[in-house]
Amino acid sequence: MLFLVSGPHGYITGGVAQREPHQKAGHVNIDLSGKVALVTGGSRGIGKSVGMRLAGAGAKVAVVDVADCEQIQATAAELGGGAIAINANVVDADQVAAAVAEVEEALGPIDILVNNAGITRDGLLIRMSEADWRAVLDVNLTGVFMMTKAVARGMMKRRSGRVVNIASIVGITGNAGQANYSASKAGVIGFTKTVAKELSSRGVLVNAVAPGFIDTDMTKALPESAREALLKLVPLGRLGLPDDVAAAVLFLSSELSSYMTGQVVVVDGGMVM
Ligand SMILES: NC(=O)c1ccc[n+]([C@@H]2O[C@H](COP(=O)([O-])OP(=O)(O)OC[C@H]3O[C@@H](n4cnc5c(N)ncnc54)[C@H](O)[C@@H]3O)[C@@H](O)[C@H]2O)c1
Repeated sequence: MLFLVSGPHGYITGGVAQREPHQKAGHVNIDLSGKVALVTGGSRGIGKSVGMRLAGAGAKVAVVDVADCEQIQATAAELGGGAIAINANVVDADQVAAAVAEVEEALGPIDILVNNAGITRDGLLIRMSEADWRAVLDVNLTGVFMMTKAVARGMMKRRSGRVVNIASIVGITGNAGQANYSASKAGVIGFTKTVAKELSSRGVLVNAVAPGFIDTDMTKALPESAREALLKLVPLGRLGLPDDVAAAVLFLSSELSSYMTGQVVVVDGGMVM
């Protein structure tokens, strides 16, 4: 359901994105004005920071999330630049189709898709329920398939588009207690490479970003002792910020990145190297 078109457009200053719309040649200038971006799970955490970065570069952003409407609406209002809020579940085919149609009607054809929605249901394998296995695979992997399929045809016809999937380093390394989550993220990486191959001849670039340990609501749920133990594994000595991930997504969504597809960009403070 579409329920908000936010206030006046403006480049965000004082926040994460401070670039001027027209910087002189030679300066790094990521200008996404005129572009339409759909960010799933965009109402908080990493997805919200991605929206801030994309809107800050001038894109019109659709925040698609299953969270309560007020939260999605508040985030879209914060992004500005004509951002819209849509309540939809990425695992529901009808809701995905409706969300894509609403974004295209309100903002225009989708140029950038960021598949960021994700959940965890952690537990050791021998105690993991089938329901927890299926729930995580559904949102984290099937949701990426559903959304990508829904926008891919349009991107292929227009012979341009960017898809950025948020994976995780545990999709590369595995992690005790996360059989479902790491399998889903490894799946996202395989999906990314396959779709990159399928869409490359149509000018659609598909990449993944694999974050390490990022300070969001998802990781705040961990006990303090687990957080401290994890921190010891980070060579750069701090937790990642949502904006550390968003900066990589912005790059992959922009013209600065025109010769990368099927790649996994690891943003983890050096945990995996
Ligand atoms: N935080 C980390 O350390 C970390 C590390 C690696 C990867 N990631 C990945 O980054 C992404 C964002 O994580 P986060 O830490 O910001 O999590 P978060 O829990 O703060 O945000 C996830 C968002 O996704 C939304 N969402 C969940 N299920 C959905 C569904 N079915 N349909 C639509 N929206 C849905 C939630 O409502 C929420 O707004 C996830 O894919 C996560 O797996 C996070």
